[in-house]
Amino acid sequence: MISAQNQTTWPSADSFLRTSPFAKYLHLASPPPLLRSMGRSERDCIARHLLDLDTHDRYLRFGYLVSDDQLQRYVDNLDFERDEVFGIYDRRLELIAMAQLAFAPDGNHDSCAELGLSVAKRARGRGYGARLFARAAIVARNEGVGLVIHMLSENAAMLKIVSNAGASVVRSGPAPRPGLVSPWSWRRPGTRG
Ligand SMILES: CC(C)(COP(=O)(O)OP(=O)(O)OC[C@H]1O[C@@H](n2cnc3c(N)ncnc32)[C@H](O)[C@@H]1OP(=O)(O)O)[C@@H](O)C(=O)NCCC(=O)NCCS
Repeated sequence: MISAQNQTTWPSADSFLRTSPFAKYLHLASPPPLLRSMGRSERDCIARHLLDLDTHDRYLRFGYLVSDDQLQRYVDNLDFERDEVFGIYDRRLELIAMAQLAFAPDGNHDSCAELGLSVAKRARGRGYGARLFARAAIVARNEGVGLVIHMLSENAAMLKIVSNAGASVVRSGPAPRPGLVSPWSWRRPGTRG
């Protein structure tokens, strides 16, 4: 009989792969994460995703330092009828990225839809931000409106996504207050608004 002490414990294939130097490429072997529209029943899921963002990410996403209460209010007030809210889910069906494409409250199609997006830290650098952006660009085009993103000039990843799409970034105003980097916005060349 072999005693338990003499038995070699092998790591599971899953944990072996996760600790290997190839771990960062694992997502490439998985089916592409699901991107789909979200509804009002998913407010809790959206809140969890946003509350997980650290202070700096919240600042990049919303342009100011957002408290947990303010984030919760933002989620409670999301208008799923007027706006397009969509997310990306991993293979465990956990929300790893989400975006809100906000249309003008009065349905004014001469104005632009505004995009805000975020990707969970653990899922960054895999093209999910670019996928959300591409989806938003298609929805805005189908609705016949321009697309605008307010972003801070320090937001290198967002600026990259936008410039990869062939857009030029325009400075939309002076710094609102000392210490806050000027907001920038992107407008698709040739669109209305
Ligand atoms: C901005 C954000 C959405 C990007 O998401 P992401 O999934 O990591 O982005 P992607 O993987 O699609 O990368 C897009 C491009 O940016 C580049 N990039 C990613 N992170 C970068 C960084 N920190 N610095 C410079 N470039 C970066 C990528 O290399 C890629 O360019 P490439 O295709 O030419 O290689 C994510 O960082 C985030 O959630 N930030 C906090 C919230 C925020 O800033 N929202 C945007 C304002 S509304």
